Amino acid sequence: MPVPGADDAIRARGLVKRFGGLVAVDHVDLTVPRAHVYGFLGPNGSGKSTTIRMLCGLLTPSEGDIEVLGLRIPAQADALRLRIGYMTQKFSLFEDLTVRENLEFLAAVYGLSRTATRTRVDELVERYHFADRQTQLAGTMSGGQKQRLALAGAVIHAPEMLFLDEPTSAVDPESRRDFWEKLFELADGGTTLLVSTHYMDEAERCHRIAILDEGVLVADGAPAQLAEALRGRSLEVRAAQPRRAQQVLARLPGVLSVAQIGNSLRVLSAAATDSAEILGDALRGAGLAAEVHAVHANLEDVFVAATRSRTTAGGDA
Ligand SMILES: Nc1ncnc2c1ncn2[C@@H]1O[C@H](COP(=O)(O)OP(=O)(O)OP(=O)(O)O)[C@@H](O)[C@H]1O
Ligand SMILES: [Mg+2]
Repeated sequence: MPVPGADDAIRARGLVKRFGGLVAVDHVDLTVPRAHVYGFLGPNGSGKSTTIRMLCGLLTPSEGDIEVLGLRIPAQADALRLRIGYMTQKFSLFEDLTVRENLEFLAAVYGLSRTATRTRVDELVERYHFADRQTQLAGTMSGGQKQRLALAGAVIHAPEMLFLDEPTSAVDPESRRDFWEKLFELADGGTTLLVSTHYMDEAERCHRIAILDEGVLVADGAPAQLAEALRGRSLEVRAAQPRRAQQVLARLPGVLSVAQIGNSLRVLSAAATDSAEILGDALRGAGLAAEVHAVHANLEDVFVAATRSRTTAGGDA
């Protein structure tokens, strides 16, 4: 039931959360368009979970305004609860209930009638590939299966918006891929998804991502746009002695990061101008033969650039 003129599922302005002296979320503005898959990235402790809890209405902000699905949060959090789903890394299933019983239980929690429950559980069992496992105890399933069941449970009441806090941290790459297929199916059906993740391949798939660093929103945009903005700053170095080359490059003032990948080095420079020449000169000066060329920035570069430039800019934290 869209609110007139509201194409955004989430609008948060000036969001702050303090825990005693710690500012866990620091004046964050966030806009999430409807039916988008919005990725939420940031180092450990950067405030992702805290932000998600405030957006869900589970935690009261110290400052700021939140509107989710046209409701003012936390004031209208009760009304919101029925329209959103929330899934965390430690997804809670009843291990000694079967697959079907888990879903039936959640349907009861959301007040679905008996007929509605049967129809909805049948539908989810089918869609999430549990037809052969309806009577299997949840506790005996694999990590990937449990995660799929947790997702089925999180959408039992067909929420308009789904919050997923590191939902894939315990499963293998193939299960993660399947899981993301399901997320896109939901988005195609009009569900808005906010997903926190530490996986760059997952972030890459999002329509839009936000990066938090020490509670501050340091990047916000489409993954390709954010990567394009780093044009000229991402470099590959092929050196005969990569370890020594790494030591030389890591000491250069304009270098944000140097990572060895196989036999080559991936370097992120603070500036785009002449960066290849500067690295090449430094290596030659140290007596090291090397080839340096610019490469397309990836999301890991975006992540490092967003989170390191603040630190090197000298601590407003
Ligand atoms: N209830 C609380 N009381 C005190 N401090 C808290 C509380 N909840 C979170 N914090 C602190 O707030 C900061 C942000 O934590 P948060 O869990 O939001 O980070 P995160 O980005 O989700 O990290 P991770 O990637 O490890 O899940 C951390 O320093 C954390 O210790
Ligand atoms: Mg977290």
